Amino acid sequence: MSNRLADKVAIITGATSGIGEATARLFIEEGAKVMIAGRTADKGEAIAESLGEHCAFQRADVLNERDIEALVDATVSRFGRVDCLFNNAGAPDRGSLETVTEEDFDYSLRLLLGSVVFGIKHAARIMKPQGGGVIINNSSIAAHRFGQGGYLYSAAKAAVSQLTRNAGVQLGPHGIRVNAISPGAIATPIFWGGSARANTLADEDNARKLEKLERNLARATPLPRSGVADDIAQAALFLASDAGSFINSHDLVVDGGRIAQFFERPAE
Ligand SMILES: NC(=O)c1ccc[n+]([C@@H]2O[C@H](COP(=O)([O-])OP(=O)(O)OC[C@H]3O[C@@H](n4cnc5c(N)ncnc54)[C@H](OP(=O)(O)O)[C@@H]3O)[C@@H](O)[C@H]2O)c1
Repeated sequence: MSNRLADKVAIITGATSGIGEATARLFIEEGAKVMIAGRTADKGEAIAESLGEHCAFQRADVLNERDIEALVDATVSRFGRVDCLFNNAGAPDRGSLETVTEEDFDYSLRLLLGSVVFGIKHAARIMKPQGGGVIINNSSIAAHRFGQGGYLYSAAKAAVSQLTRNAGVQLGPHGIRVNAISPGAIATPIFWGGSARANTLADEDNARKLEKLERNLARATPLPRSGVADDIAQAALFLASDAGSFINSHDLVVDGGRIAQFFERPAE
């Protein structure tokens, strides 16, 4: 299938790696114009160039509301409107129950929850007068079960899932659908320190880590394979497209069955 996002304009945060990058590739294949964002300008510009004239990169640190505001405004200047915002940027959190500091708290909550709060605020500012749009928030199965993510990470993601339900009810009357995706274990650099650490390693090292991770995750998922970034991109496409036009305030778990029963398949 193709052109499921024909004439749509999307913003994807955290599109310099993993799930965001895979979603940008798929959205472009499906006919969208896509503004990708992240902090790593050289990577973001290279990805945008590889995706052609319908893709552009804007540097944005989602810890800052003004960067999010500028990202939304730059998208309107470049592509004329905003039909979809994927609030996807994220990283492993810092601190544990015993060691957590105020700095850890401020960082994790601003990154994982604040970015979604301010993304929704600035997307709604454009989508309301347009008469509609779609907002997708990347939550996690860590929002729903113990042991699937860090201490603050899990709490922030639970807040993202609830924020999604509330925002969908408030924005639904304006034709704006707000949904979350809760990915299970998806093989990306987030498992070895996030994109910031992956940027410090050679391509071969990152490729080796990804391969090993996929083997390990395949043993810890009821479906006998690891989740991959494209699994979440496909879910985002479904929610962003007209196929998802009656889905609002929903949190779509995409995890191969992992939260139904966590288990470990014996090594062969
Ligand atoms: N992989 C999984 O198993 C999994 C499971 C559940 C949920 N998720 C969620 O999926 C999302 C994407 O994660 P991923 O697995 O694709 O990880 P990833 O490969 O490490 O990618 C993370 C992305 O977030 C961006 N980012 C991090 N901090 C940022 C900041 N302050 N400002 C702007 N961008 C920032 C990074 O870009 P720069 O480094 O260029 O800034 C990068 O593009 C996250 O929200 C994560 O919590 C992942």
